Amino acid sequence: MSMRKRTVVMISGRGSNMTALIAAATNPDYPAEIVGVISDRVNAAGLGIAAARGIATKVISRADYTSKEAHDGAIDAALVSFGAEIVALAGYMRILGAHFVEKWLGRMINIHPALLPAFKGLDTHARAIRAGIRIHGCTVHFVTLDMDDGPIIAQAAVPVMVGDNEDMLAARVLKAEHRLYPLALGLVAEGKARMEGGRTVLAHFADDADNSTSVIMAPDPLREETDLEHLARITP
Ligand code: GRF
Repeated sequence: MSMRKRTVVMISGRGSNMTALIAAATNPDYPAEIVGVISDRVNAAGLGIAAARGIATKVISRADYTSKEAHDGAIDAALVSFGAEIVALAGYMRILGAHFVEKWLGRMINIHPALLPAFKGLDTHARAIRAGIRIHGCTVHFVTLDMDDGPIIAQAAVPVMVGDNEDMLAARVLKAEHRLYPLALGLVAEGKARMEGGRTVLAHFADDADNSTSVIMAPDPLREETDLEHLARITP
């Protein structure tokens, strides 16, 4: 019997993070398998991508239910029917109710396009540019009752470049998301990251001494010096 953790991805739109998770899980050594995709929107582009990759999909629209609780209940029933062990929210744009969140606590994760606890909520990239921060990024965290507030599992940082607009920064962060989410889901599926007492416990890790000295800086001070060799290579 396979020991891979049965994972259902929940989306509302484009589904590029979902696609990254599906791609990672095509490796039989990856500790999670994607057994289904649930969308609350019938026209989510990600649904077609999942179906094309042979993943079962299910649309559960809020409009088809009389209350938020009934909608959550239908999602929960679908997760149970998929045999879900882990739920990965990937651009799922609806807030889940307390009962649902509590049931899946420690087994439900989300990706957020900012370095939490900074920039919870929407429009993170525009807000990051307005704030003038020089380092931005993304976070995968366990889902708890408060939005974008659960224990952090993993983060990736990217520089904010001087000429960035919102779209340019969003694209750079999204590339990092596509690397970070498979890593983080893998940690949870392997039991190397788990939620305990409201915190993430990382087990089976040894500190990497090289890592402790690495620094991300933006603007990158090294680039400010003129590299004559580089200049010679790019000038006609
Ligand atoms: C991502 O930026 C993710 O961090 C946020 O919603 C966006 C979803 O994009 N939660 P996609 O649907 O995965 O392409």
